[in-house]
Amino acid sequence: MDISDKLRNARRFEEEALQKKEFVRKPDFHICAPTGWINDPNGFSEYKNEKHLFFQYHPYDTSWGPMHWGHMKTKDFIKWEQLPVALAPDMPYDSLGCFSGSAVEWNGEHILFYTGVKKEKDINGYIKEYQIQCIAVGDGTNYKKLAQNPVVDENLIPAGGNLIDFRDPKAWIEGEYIYFVVGNRGKDNSGQILMYRSKNLEEWEYVGILDQCNNRYGKMWECPDFFELDGQHILIVSPQEMQAEEYRFHAGDGTIYISGEYDKDSHNFIEKEIQTLDHGLDFYAPQTMLTSDHRRILIAWMQSWSYTMFGIEDGFSGMMTLPRELTIKDGILYQSPVSELEHYRTNKVTITQYEAKEEYEILPKLQGRIMDMEVMVSGESYSEFHMKIAADDTFFTELIYDKTKNRFIFSRFHSHLREDIPNERKVDLMGDQETLKMRIIMDRYSVEIFFNDGEQVFTSLIKTPIDIDGVYIKTIGKAYVDICKYDINVE
Ligand code: FRU
Repeated sequence: MDISDKLRNARRFEEEALQKKEFVRKPDFHICAPTGWINDPNGFSEYKNEKHLFFQYHPYDTSWGPMHWGHMKTKDFIKWEQLPVALAPDMPYDSLGCFSGSAVEWNGEHILFYTGVKKEKDINGYIKEYQIQCIAVGDGTNYKKLAQNPVVDENLIPAGGNLIDFRDPKAWIEGEYIYFVVGNRGKDNSGQILMYRSKNLEEWEYVGILDQCNNRYGKMWECPDFFELDGQHILIVSPQEMQAEEYRFHAGDGTIYISGEYDKDSHNFIEKEIQTLDHGLDFYAPQTMLTSDHRRILIAWMQSWSYTMFGIEDGFSGMMTLPRELTIKDGILYQSPVSELEHYRTNKVTITQYEAKEEYEILPKLQGRIMDMEVMVSGESYSEFHMKIAADDTFFTELIYDKTKNRFIFSRFHSHLREDIPNERKVDLMGDQETLKMRIIMDRYSVEIFFNDGEQVFTSLIKTPIDIDGVYIKTIGKAYVDICKYDINVE
C-alpha cells in the first residue's frame, strides 16, 4: 500500500528509537509509549481474533504534539506486540492531528473512526481549528483513509453545536447500522453526546442527542463510550473542568459513568445513576471493547492532563491501565483485572489472620514491585489500617483505611517525588466494610487498587526507585490481616 511521507517518517522514527533506546522505567505488562508521548487509548477492538489497541501518539517528543495513531495487538491483554504507526496527520482535513476514536470489524475489514483536526478561516477571517469525523479502513496493519472524508462535518451538526469541540467517535454495530456517539459542546457551552449512524460508511445520518451535561459534571465531555451490560446501558464520559463534590468527584479532568435505560427505537436515554469510574490520580479517557467471548473490557490512559510523571529523562511518556473486565451488580459498575493476568502469577505467599501491630512493621516475604496482592482486613475494634508499599525506612506510598469514616486515603507525598503535583486523594468507600478487601496490582511504577471485588478502583503512578520495594502494615486497634500475594512474571 502507498503510504504518505508523514506516515513513513513516523514508522521509521519509531523503529529506530526502539532499536537504540533502553527504557529503564517501562512497565512489564502494561502498554506504554513505544517512544515519545501517548495519551488516550483508541480503536480498542477485536479484529480477526486478535485484540488491537491504538493510541494517541506523538513519537517525536515526550510531550503532546500533532497526533498520530500508534498501534499494538495482543492475544491475551497482557503480552502486546508492537505494530507500525497506523495513522499520521497527512491530509488537509486532519493536518493538525488524528484525534481519538474507535474501531470495529465490519465485512472482514478493520474500520477506524477518528476525529480529524483542521485549520480554516472562520467567517471573520480568523484562523480556527475545526474537528470533524473521519474513517480509515485496513487489514490489521495498514489503513487507508476514505476518499469521502470527512464523513461527518458541519453539515450534520445540530443547531448550537460547536465545531471546535466535536471529537472522539465511539462506534458499534447494531443490526444493519454502524452507530457512533461523539462528544460535542452545545448551546450552553457544556457537553452533549451526539449520535450518528450509517449503513455503508459513506452516508451518515444524525440520529440525535443521547445525553447532555447541562453544566453538571464538568463542561466538555470527552471520549464517550456507550454500551449495554448486564441488561443496563452505560455511558462513560471524561468531563473536563469538573468541580469537586465531597470525595465523590475531584476537581479537574475526571471520568464518570452514567447507568440508565435506553430505548433502541426512540434512542432516548434516561440517566439513573452517576458515579466516578476511577478515583485515582492517574486515570483518563477510558475506552471499552466487546470480546468474542462476550466480555466487556475497559482500558484507560494511566495519566491525566494536569502534569506528567514520566518524560524527557525516561525517553517516553504515557502508559495504559491494565485491561479490566466490567460487570454490573445492583446498578454499580464493577471492574476487575482481566482473568488472563492469573496465568502469569508465580511465587505465591500467604499470610493468614495476622494480628497487625500498632507500629509499622515490615512483612518480609511480601516485597516486590511487580505483583498481584490481595489484602483483607477484619476485626471489630480497629479504627485505622495503614499499609506502606514501595517502601523503605525513608520512602513510601501509604494506603490508609479509616474505618470510622469508611474512607480510604492514598498518599504518595513520600514516594521520592520532587514535584508539587496532586499527591493525595481521599475516597469514601461504598457499602459497609465488614471486611475491607483490596486487590493491589503493581507494575514497577503503577498501582491499581480494586476495592471489594472492583466496586471502586483507584489508579495512580508512583516514581519511587525500583529497589525500594518493601511492604509494611500497622493498625490502630485490633485488626486481623489476610494476604495472598503473587509476583507477576511475563518472561
Ligand atoms: C482526551 C483528548 C481527546 C482528544 C485527544 C487529543 O484526552 O483531549 O478529547 O481527541 O485527547 O489527543
